[in-house]
Amino acid sequence: MDTTFLQELGLCKSDRYKNTILKIRSLIKCEPDLTANLCNITSALKYSFPEFSWVGFYLRDGQAQDELILNAFQGKPACTRIRIGKGVCGTAALLGETIIVSDVSEFPGHIYCDPDSKSEIVVPLMFNGNLLGVLDIDSTSLSAFDNSDKLYLEILISEIIYMFNP
Ligand code: SME
Repeated sequence: MDTTFLQELGLCKSDRYKNTILKIRSLIKCEPDLTANLCNITSALKYSFPEFSWVGFYLRDGQAQDELILNAFQGKPACTRIRIGKGVCGTAALLGETIIVSDVSEFPGHIYCDPDSKSEIVVPLMFNGNLLGVLDIDSTSLSAFDNSDKLYLEILISEIIYMFNP
């Protein structure tokens, strides 16, 4: 039995984020490999928040600049390429702003990777105004995300952006 996991369930969301960010800091601090770190970040998020059904990164492709390509993730298989401007991920990438979708069925052009997904948050990875990719998190519950998710996920992204060598 994972008692750490059970203890975390009793914490409020902000404390769970603070613990998870501490965990992620220690996981990545001595490791220069981007893929290894992104894998551990998605795992730490998914297993700290049971309400997250899918956690993953889509990164900008160096060759096809108008596409995001699936990178490290935890969850069911997902669509591999998303055009910038399409779906929730592509819209957040185009705007350079975090998007919270309480009910994905009401988001025009939402891309269904998992038919059970009900709500979603997408945080863009920006450096000096340049888009590097997005962090996408889905939930099978409606309205799973609010401004506290936005706050802590944006803090997390600001802490890890150096890994991309922008
Ligand atoms: N729903 C996303 C696509 C990616 S999956 O959720 C993993 C979107 O509309 O961009």
